[in-house]
Amino acid sequence: MSNEHDSLRAIVWNNDALQLLDQRVLPHETRYLTLRSAEEIANAIREMVVRGAPAIGITAAFGVVLAARHAVAQDQNNWKSLIKKDFQLLAASRPTAVNLFWALAKMQKIVDNSNSYDDTVLLNEAQRIYDVDIADNYRMGELGAAFIEPHSNVLTHCNTGSLATGGYGTALGVIRSAYRAGNLSQIFADETRPWMQGSRLTAWELLQDHIPVTLIVEGAAASLMRDKSIRWVIVGADRITANGDVANKIGTYNLAVLAKYHGVKFMVVAPTSTIDMNLPNGESIPIEQRAPSEILQIKGQQISAVGANAWNPAFDVTPASLIDVIVTERGVVQTPALEKMQALFL
Ligand code: MRU
Repeated sequence: MSNEHDSLRAIVWNNDALQLLDQRVLPHETRYLTLRSAEEIANAIREMVVRGAPAIGITAAFGVVLAARHAVAQDQNNWKSLIKKDFQLLAASRPTAVNLFWALAKMQKIVDNSNSYDDTVLLNEAQRIYDVDIADNYRMGELGAAFIEPHSNVLTHCNTGSLATGGYGTALGVIRSAYRAGNLSQIFADETRPWMQGSRLTAWELLQDHIPVTLIVEGAAASLMRDKSIRWVIVGADRITANGDVANKIGTYNLAVLAKYHGVKFMVVAPTSTIDMNLPNGESIPIEQRAPSEILQIKGQQISAVGANAWNPAFDVTPASLIDVIVTERGVVQTPALEKMQALFL
């Protein structure tokens, strides 16, 4: 794969530390933070240095590697019980993206199965989670792009690209692949209030990779669908339940409702590590509530009327009935429903 359209990596393992591209300061500053403990990594996840479901999972896996090193340095015979609190810290960093818990469970299994501490085994597992994520994104890119007809205009939400994953991206991976195939006329991205993942991150990432992008405010989505003959809305996911309901960045549900009204197709792109078959439907997904200040202020400066309250859920749930296709690395699920989701895991 040429890297003309795939040049970015936001997570870098560096022998004794994890380096994360600080997504809070993009696109104005490109700076990598060096993190040396599980506690620092949990804080970085909570504070949005790194974000996006797969990227959070990968980051937490490397957090376990660091946790184990610290625990062994403290007490070689007791490292397994010493790292329990670090697992808890990492698991408490953000609640909605199931990839976090999926990656921690994989690392926990390695810990449980090891008779004695072996740094290489833990590091290999974290690296494998990272590498498999990128490979899965390439596969989903191909599978999703096969749905995109020539001369299509598409709309995406939030950031689902190399910044949100190991690399290449989920929804943005499909957009990259469709662009390489020459089938995209215009790519629209919405700003994605309040963190501006669309205008700060998706736009920056696409432009870094020489892919043109047009931004809209979220309130323009209905007019865009009507006036710009959008063919597909393409989004990622933080958690998909057994019936095909999808939790994703707040505003995704709006787009799905608008897409249905305007006859625009709706695609969700996510690896099977984002699917939580233990939850029957979207009602049981824990939705992260973030600080009102994220809405009331910008960079610490009050922008709203003093005294106004704010309701700030970070995610919403799009019902399966509004989704045309879920693309995973194991295959695609059209008009998602329980039996079809179960078939992915046979
Ligand atoms: O709050 P964020 O920025 O972590 O939310 C990210 C999203 O909602 C993404 O769409 C989702 O994690 C998929 S990323 C491939």
